[in-house]
Amino acid sequence: MNTFNITIIGTGYVGAVTGACFAELGHNITFVGRDQKKLDLISSGKSPIYEPGLDDLLAKNQDRISTTTDLVGAVKRTDLTFICVGTPSQDDGSIDLRQVEDVSSVIGSAIRSSPDYHTIVVKSTVLPGTTEDLLLPILEKESGKKAFIDFGLAMNPEFLKEGSAIEDFFHGDRVVIGSNDQETSSILKALYGSLGVPIYTTTMKTAEMIKYASNAFLATKISFANELGNLCKQIEIDSYEVFQGVGMDTRIGPHFFRSGIGFGGSCFPKDVRALIAHARTVGDEPRILNAVIRTNDDQPRKLINLLKKHVRPAGRTIGILGLAFKPDSDDVRESRAISIIMDLLKEGASVVAYDPVAMENFRPLFPGITYAKAAGEVLDCDAVLIVTEWKEFEDLNYENRIVIDGRRIAKARDEAAIYEGVCW
Ligand code: UGA
Repeated sequence: MNTFNITIIGTGYVGAVTGACFAELGHNITFVGRDQKKLDLISSGKSPIYEPGLDDLLAKNQDRISTTTDLVGAVKRTDLTFICVGTPSQDDGSIDLRQVEDVSSVIGSAIRSSPDYHTIVVKSTVLPGTTEDLLLPILEKESGKKAFIDFGLAMNPEFLKEGSAIEDFFHGDRVVIGSNDQETSSILKALYGSLGVPIYTTTMKTAEMIKYASNAFLATKISFANELGNLCKQIEIDSYEVFQGVGMDTRIGPHFFRSGIGFGGSCFPKDVRALIAHARTVGDEPRILNAVIRTNDDQPRKLINLLKKHVRPAGRTIGILGLAFKPDSDDVRESRAISIIMDLLKEGASVVAYDPVAMENFRPLFPGITYAKAAGEVLDCDAVLIVTEWKEFEDLNYENRIVIDGRRIAKARDEAAIYEGVCW
């Protein structure tokens, strides 16, 4: 196996996981970041983000991992650079490309004086055309060199899920390599080859679109399950049983049909909105994608409406189980808990919330609510809303409680005195 020296720019979720997993495969990794605290954590074998298994991987591979704030120096010492910086949403849904542009320009200047062939890989989620039409010219201008002749360039989207990112890296369904030349593709094939995961090679623009199309389709599947789930609720059918039956059709598949209060996180909402904004720039109005967002935005309201069927929130204390956008994550970006708590406060309720790991991240958003020390305390409230399906919520005692469930916790369904599920 070839051993590569790899620079990873960005110590967020994509960068940290990608770097640690490449180190586990035997490659030498230099993490570059601006936040010295995060770099120090990585240097001491600790993960800068909450991701099961990541601490172990970083600790185990310390001899192959280094960190620095000096991007130019790192690029000069390595063969490959992965761009894993953020592409945050702007107000109109489009994405902010400043970080990818900035690092591309520094990488360009770093390879200017270097005689070695360096390969640059864009892992950040960017819209179709960004790598070729925006980043390639920056790299060529700053380096004074020609892409695909003097340096390699590829777009290699990530398909990792928070909470199971390491498993997804080593046992993914596919690796997509977007590059416009053979040399770069073969370097990346050598890098990923040992995983034994199918490799799909395409152009950079197509690779960028595969990323958006994948996330948009998964988001569509969820909103579809929620739209039909809302109907199922009205006519007293359990949508989970429906989608179990539907998912057995191999043309459809069983995944991402869990109905409830919809999708949150840093990817689906942002990526679908960015795709809509991008389509508009070329005069297209994507009707399905607009509906996906609308259905998703409405879904948390269903939980509040079901609560109001049983308890008037004004003057009551309502418990919230789960603040993370999904279990096994401390990420609260676009968590459904945000709009649910906002609605409850507007209705005049007091809120007691609990999450096994996400409370510290959530607290700045709602400093005025009560954060419980244990899940059990939430059960003493006038009613309990289940917002994230943490495994430990399956062990609570829901007897004599009023529970409105957005995520389908079986034990609550079996035990609670009054129980309502959003789509069942
Ligand atoms: C998602 C994709 O699944 C990854 O393939 C992709 O790499 C990642 O975005 C990204 O672009 O970086 P992630 O956001 O980490 O991963 O988490 P998911 O497991 O996909 O869940 C997203 C949201 O959908 C969560 O709020 C979850 O509760 C919700 N969801 C998921 C449902 O409501 N129903 C489902 O059936 C599945």
